Amino acid sequence: MIRRESKSKKLKKYLNDIKALYQVSKSMTSTLNLDEVLEMIATKVASALGAKLCTLRLFDEKDRVLKLRATSALNKTLTPLMKDIPVGEGVAGGVALKKRARIVKDLSRCKEFLHPEVARKKGWRSMLSVPMIERDKLVGVLSIYSDKGDAFRADDKDILQLFGNQAAIAIEDTRLALYARTDHLKIMRLFAGMLDAKDNYTEEHSERVMRYTLAIADEIGLSQQQKEILRYASYLHDIGKIGLDNAILTKPDKLTKEEWEEVKKHPEIGADILRKAGLVDGLIPTVLYHHRHYDGRGYPEKGPTGKKISIEARILAVADAYEAMVSKRVYRNALSDEDARAELKRCAGTQFDPEVVDIFLKILARQK
Ligand SMILES: [Fe+2]
Repeated sequence: MIRRESKSKKLKKYLNDIKALYQVSKSMTSTLNLDEVLEMIATKVASALGAKLCTLRLFDEKDRVLKLRATSALNKTLTPLMKDIPVGEGVAGGVALKKRARIVKDLSRCKEFLHPEVARKKGWRSMLSVPMIERDKLVGVLSIYSDKGDAFRADDKDILQLFGNQAAIAIEDTRLALYARTDHLKIMRLFAGMLDAKDNYTEEHSERVMRYTLAIADEIGLSQQQKEILRYASYLHDIGKIGLDNAILTKPDKLTKEEWEEVKKHPEIGADILRKAGLVDGLIPTVLYHHRHYDGRGYPEKGPTGKKISIEARILAVADAYEAMVSKRVYRNALSDEDARAELKRCAGTQFDPEVVDIFLKILARQK
């Protein structure tokens, strides 16, 4: 009976470990923020293995040191740990050099351990450290500490090694995704430059629109993903103008009704282009509704109104309109910043979301 109970307890612990491991790998793919990924690994590992603290160090190839990048609970008393550890020094440095896990049963008797004074103060008595390796390449070192002496067994080592391997893959994936994203943004910028030129805007029009949209997004507290949509949408929202006759876009006089009807199609054409390219979902409504008014007017004629228009589209509408107003166009001179702000205020609640206008005016006032 006792044996069975301990067996089921063990099984339960394993299941929990696997669940935590699964959560780690699942959430990896949903974020592009390396710091967030690392922090989550450290927190999940500490709770899954019941450790007092988990530290995650990344290997810096250039300086051959291990840099502390995340912990499950960092506070001031742990600042000595923030020092870089050269490969080959200390427990973690040794694990990195040999690429082999190590259990320290009694920290007070471990000569290599670099922070005995912290361990004493915090009551850490044993530790377990594993290398994070991805395709034979050292990515970093994952360590856990316990307030019990001789706390870690071989199966803890196996579980932590699994976490370490999973973490290494996630870290490398995130790094690769970040490189790819840099390239994506460069290509977007190229597109944006072409579109700005076609529209006779100055080169920095899209860049400025992006800065405004991100400033508003920060103020509202939008997620990383929403900000990513805004970044892309700032560059690509007018992509539907690509097929428009240049004569219409550069016409100094008033457009005829037919010409205006052509211009009004650009959000739909743009959304269609992005849809066919298989681009992210949130980007499409942003592009589609960037000229849709808060009160349901504007274009396209059919679509959501008020707060049902995506927040990204409502933000882009304000930022793009302001930047267009203060730019010199072929058919009119640039408006002064004061006039442009007055125009935003006048159209708050009809053309624009009044809350977004409010926030944007505050941002502009602060920049002054
Ligand atoms: Fe547009």
